[in-house]
Amino acid sequence: GLVNTKDMFKRAIAGKYAIAAFNFNNMEQMQAIIQAAVETKSPVILQVSSGARKYANQTLLRYMAQGAVEYAKELGCENPEIVLHLDHGDSFELCKSCIDMGFSSVMIDGSHFPYEENIALTKKVVEYAHQFDVTVEGELGVLAGVEDDVVAEHHTYTQPSEVVDFVSRTGVDSLAISIGTSHGANKFTPAQCTRDANGILIPPPLRFDILEEIEKEIPGFPIVLHGSSSVPQDLVAQINQYGGKLVDSIGIPEEQLRKAASSAVCKINIDSDGRLAMTAAVRKVFVEQPGEFDPRKYLGPARDTLKALYKLKLENVLGSAGKL
Ligand code: G3H
Ligand code: 13P
Ligand code: NA
Ligand code: ZN
Repeated sequence: GLVNTKDMFKRAIAGKYAIAAFNFNNMEQMQAIIQAAVETKSPVILQVSSGARKYANQTLLRYMAQGAVEYAKELGCENPEIVLHLDHGDSFELCKSCIDMGFSSVMIDGSHFPYEENIALTKKVVEYAHQFDVTVEGELGVLAGVEDDVVAEHHTYTQPSEVVDFVSRTGVDSLAISIGTSHGANKFTPAQCTRDANGILIPPPLRFDILEEIEKEIPGFPIVLHGSSSVPQDLVAQINQYGGKLVDSIGIPEEQLRKAASSAVCKINIDSDGRLAMTAAVRKVFVEQPGEFDPRKYLGPARDTLKALYKLKLENVLGSAGKL
């Protein structure tokens, strides 16, 4: 069945790699994620946001994830390790509802509440979740941009001086931190970037100094990075070539994610890159084959493009390939 994150995080930290957490809202995304995980022999986290629950229905997503375990076995994987995780849970009731329904992991994101409120809420979710062997991710620090329907003008970096107190008082299994990542496809403005010799925009580096301080405070404790899409420029170009209008789309360079994956960062969240891959594929079909009206003729290529992208992430960026 579905597993929680405990054992896979322990191995990822010891082995200096990270587990991918990919968001899913429909069957094609689920299939692409599972095919990529099986073909690379990677453990993987399927995560469901509040928006996904509203779009697709929590019950359907939960049973799709259970089906994903059987699907992985059918694809030839004898021992799949698949987590069903609630992404950005915003209340005890939502987390409880997911736990009661069979999710194996939840995030309670109290990061935009005052510190003591974040602790109280997170602790309450941990106490409930641990009765059912469900693991809990908490968050300290605020990502710039939109997170959890809350908009923040600037990053509020995680304070290393708070992490020991937070993890010990809440009992969380992992901690999401803010070191310069953000959600979506516009993580930096061109004005924040420099240009390399080829004119390619280079965003400012993540705050690895803060990550190192955090690791010194809580050695070996599982750290999570949200907002970790790289926004591949070939996908942005393909979308715009076929009628899209994406502007100033800049992500986290893969090299920085590789460096993060080799640290105590053991979960890396990626959603936007998958959206770009599917959109690029669908737009291409619509322009090149305007006579098609069978959804399988555009969702199929979208699924294949997504799978190829996610395989590259697992093999070349997160390093989880072969770790099953
Ligand atoms: O945290 C954000 C994820 O990309 C999920 O996005 O809330 O639009 O489903 P969503
Ligand atoms: P991206 O928008 O960078 O893909 O981040 C996804 C995420 O953090 C989901 O929780
Ligand atoms: Na790691
Ligand atoms: Zn997130």
